[in-house]
Amino acid sequence: MIQATLHQLKVFETMARHGSFTRAAEELLITQPTVSSQIKQLTKVIGLPLFEQIGKRLYLTEAGKELLQTCQEIFGRLENFEMKVADLKGTRQGQLRLAVITTAKYFIPRILGTFCQQYPGINISLAITNHQHIQERMMENRDDLYVLSEPSDNMGLSTQPFLDNHLVVIAPKNHPLAGKRNIPITNLDSEVFIMRESGSGTRQAIQKLFYQHGLSVEVRLELGSNEAIKHAIAGNLGISILSQHTLISEGKDSELTILDVEHFPIKRRWYVAYLEDKQLSVVAKAFLDYLLQKSTKFSIPPASLLAKV
Ligand code: PGA
Repeated sequence: MIQATLHQLKVFETMARHGSFTRAAEELLITQPTVSSQIKQLTKVIGLPLFEQIGKRLYLTEAGKELLQTCQEIFGRLENFEMKVADLKGTRQGQLRLAVITTAKYFIPRILGTFCQQYPGINISLAITNHQHIQERMMENRDDLYVLSEPSDNMGLSTQPFLDNHLVVIAPKNHPLAGKRNIPITNLDSEVFIMRESGSGTRQAIQKLFYQHGLSVEVRLELGSNEAIKHAIAGNLGISILSQHTLISEGKDSELTILDVEHFPIKRRWYVAYLEDKQLSVVAKAFLDYLLQKSTKFSIPPASLLAKV
């Protein structure tokens, strides 16, 4: 193994990620024959095939899977080392990979903005996706830090709550229940709902509450975007339940209102999480501290931001 070069390992890792000689060559800015000769040499050193071709697709063999994991550890450690060196030189720089659930997009980019001004040498990749996809990304160890509402207990996570995330019933301003106090939850039975897609944490929380109260509401429309749901509510397609943070940029002219329904808001919290076994990079640690310190500015927007009905 000692004869394998770092370059060969990089070629292999890129190739394994893409499952394609062409795409690996494109990413590494080398030719396709160079990719295949590097993989050939590495296979010879290891003495076992690393890929097998079935039909048109390339699959990793057992040895290939083991090697991929080893490469990811090696490159992760090297990246971390680079960041530490930069830190010692007094120039904090490197890569920060974040994955956050959809509702966190209402504050994370703003926090990132000021963070990047402070540390201009940092490159960020930010994935914004739903609860289920965050879980998948965690299982694949794709990011440094995650922001989500319901971290799973059995995934070996280190978690820290940092902000309240309340789910409220949102309706068009002209809804007949607008302005009424303490509406019985059973009234929701006769409403038409717009619901987030399956795999959404918001949807799971709503279903849990409805189940507890024996409600089965009519869902007219499923949408994967909180913003699209807000527009659909304004278009009188139905009502919905969303994080109160989705209303952050609504003002007195908003076409939406929050209904005062009993058992609402559904009180949840946002957590910042990372895989317990992962050694956080200098940059990830810096962002974690920054997030915990700055996020208080983004507490729940008051319902009074919306016009009284
Ligand atoms: P979602 O997550 O985007 O998957 O609905 C939001 C949440 O769980 O609070």
